[in-house]
Amino acid sequence: MKKPSEPRADATRCVHSGEDRHGQAAPLTTPIAQTSVFALPNVDALRRYAWGDSDLYLYSRYGNPTITAAEEKIAALEGAEAAVVTSSGMAAELIAALVTCQAGDEIVSMLDVYGGTVKLFEQVLPRCGIKARFIPYHDIANAGRYFSRKTKMLFLETPTNPTLRCVDLAALSAIGHKHRACVVVDNTFATPVLQKPLELGADIVIHSATKYLGGHSDLTAGALAGSKKWMDAARDMRTYTGGVVDPGCAYLLLRGLKTLDVRVERACQNAAEIAVALQRHPEVERVHYPGLADKASLDLVGRQMTDYGMMVSFDIRGGGRAAERFIDRLKLWCLAASLGGVESTVSYPVLTSHIGLSAKQMKLLGVSLATIRLSVGIEDAGDLIADLEQALERA
Ligand SMILES: Cc1ncc(COP(=O)(O)O)c(C=O)c1O
Repeated sequence: MKKPSEPRADATRCVHSGEDRHGQAAPLTTPIAQTSVFALPNVDALRRYAWGDSDLYLYSRYGNPTITAAEEKIAALEGAEAAVVTSSGMAAELIAALVTCQAGDEIVSMLDVYGGTVKLFEQVLPRCGIKARFIPYHDIANAGRYFSRKTKMLFLETPTNPTLRCVDLAALSAIGHKHRACVVVDNTFATPVLQKPLELGADIVIHSATKYLGGHSDLTAGALAGSKKWMDAARDMRTYTGGVVDPGCAYLLLRGLKTLDVRVERACQNAAEIAVALQRHPEVERVHYPGLADKASLDLVGRQMTDYGMMVSFDIRGGGRAAERFIDRLKLWCLAASLGGVESTVSYPVLTSHIGLSAKQMKLLGVSLATIRLSVGIEDAGDLIADLEQALERA
């Protein structure tokens, strides 16, 4: 029905990719193969599996048809030869590090990456003999200086959390390749609907599928996408380290992915209206939103994204006390540490993703006690803005 080479728009890929149907009475949706193991008809089938017949399944930690369907959909959306779905975004990051680096190797990473990524690079990977160097945002133009002969992976994330700074994926990928590093991009905040890092030169894309790909705050999963060679290595690493996703969760992910394109479109429209309303509000000191950035950043976003995204952050006047009062007065926006669901949520970075960071580190990241992060959902924009305004007026 759908060859990978067929030119299709993302909205069509969201619904149809990966969902091959066979036979007259086939279910329209991909069923959940809720099993840990598969029965093979005979030894010949076992032999064919052992020789690499990819139509056969043996054990769900190695592969499962529901997981395969989710992988094919993500690969189609990212424009990748293949994808590997994992038990969480962190499992995807660990797998990316372990397939690109060995003991003695180094990672170069942006400093403005998800806090859990920094902990993985600083606290876990050194136990395997892998070290990381971090590039602060203000020094990104000198990225080349952070590489050594030992560097095997360049790790990027754009837009960043929570200040939504964007970095040039094409330029940084070229620098990474000049130093023979594998370029890995965390595309969680943009989603493949807004940004396709592989087309811009990256080698591997990773996701916290817990966020927009799932889209309903009801699953924990991750994903990697890239060339067949990298994904074969990632699948083997997932098998050996155990970071496989449950088939039931893969089904929820498949279902969520079908509406990704429409969810992203609606949430982007809402975010744009909210960013403008916040910028006009006297109680707001500064809005962080790619669509309100300086000209150079706007040009960059125009080159590598199709819209400005679904996240908006802002600094409230009155510092930490005003921020806490504002959050507690919201009625429609739920206080929740995650993002990317259909429901709009608010988060307070100094007590979640950026907890425990020094004043110097926070300054480098552009985060303060006054910074509030909004994950914009698909509700009515007027209702969302009215709730923000009533909370701002009383903060
Ligand atoms: C940008 C980003 N990458 C990776 C992760 C880790 O994903 P997970 O929580 O699914 O392990 C997160 C989680 O918040 C994230 O925001």
